[in-house]
Amino acid sequence: MQTVATIEQLRQQISDWRQQGLTIGFVPTMGNLHAGHISLIEEAHKHADKIVASIFVNPMQFGANEDIDSYPRTMDDDKQKLIAANTDILFTPTPEIIYPKGLENQTYVEVPDVSDGYCGESRPGHFRGVSTVVCKLFNIVQPDIACFGLKDYQQVQVIQSMVEDLSMPITIIPVPTMRESSGLAMSSRNNYLTADEKSIATNLSKTLLWLAEEVKSNKNFSALIEQAAAKIDASGMKTDYIHISHARTLNPATAEDKKLVILAAAHCGKARLIDNLQVELDA
Ligand code: PAF
Repeated sequence: MQTVATIEQLRQQISDWRQQGLTIGFVPTMGNLHAGHISLIEEAHKHADKIVASIFVNPMQFGANEDIDSYPRTMDDDKQKLIAANTDILFTPTPEIIYPKGLENQTYVEVPDVSDGYCGESRPGHFRGVSTVVCKLFNIVQPDIACFGLKDYQQVQVIQSMVEDLSMPITIIPVPTMRESSGLAMSSRNNYLTADEKSIATNLSKTLLWLAEEVKSNKNFSALIEQAAAKIDASGMKTDYIHISHARTLNPATAEDKKLVILAAAHCGKARLIDNLQVELDA
């Protein structure tokens, strides 16, 4: 695996591959890689000849009071995992390379509607930062396909909308969430949890499973959401939000919708965890 930090070096290698008629798959990450990230690389191998991964802790998607300084950085370990997964190039730009004029003067991309609620509401500006950096990375790498984990369900919808709205010739491949045997969705932020908190955190996915069963027979979604939030809080976490939504638009689900997603975020110790579950109702 080659590691490159500059846009010029990366473009040179990608243009050599393009001249050989090879296709490019891309997996953008913020590092601190776990099995969920590696499943994205594995999926990308199924769709493209050469795989580019990036590690960039993107300052634009962190709010003023968020964890950018403490966000876990484990570059040596990450490289070993990417080598083992047969990644061809790792792109590791600095903030100066991605935002040479600074964040204030950077052109940005804002995807309306799907960016607005849920994590968009709890973390103002977060999705502007995500869509801007992913747009830049797409322009730098110019991949044929790019893989994103469904653990960040709203992020996948935001990126899918950006690609459609801006006519980007890139296929977005959503990859199912990897979970611990306890059901806890894998996340770099699980590193903030103590052993006790890790066991408490399993109640997030348990509550989603409970709610997914309930929505099959009960259309009183607001009452169900209240009960689900109470379960999360009673387990020792603090619910940030829990909603039952249309799986693509992310609008609040109606009793007629068949493809739903349950989206949730909760605070557990120092970590803010997110999780979701798609539910398909019988037609
Ligand atoms: O999901 C992430 O790790 C980040 O939001 C992404 C897509 C790499 C953009 O910084």
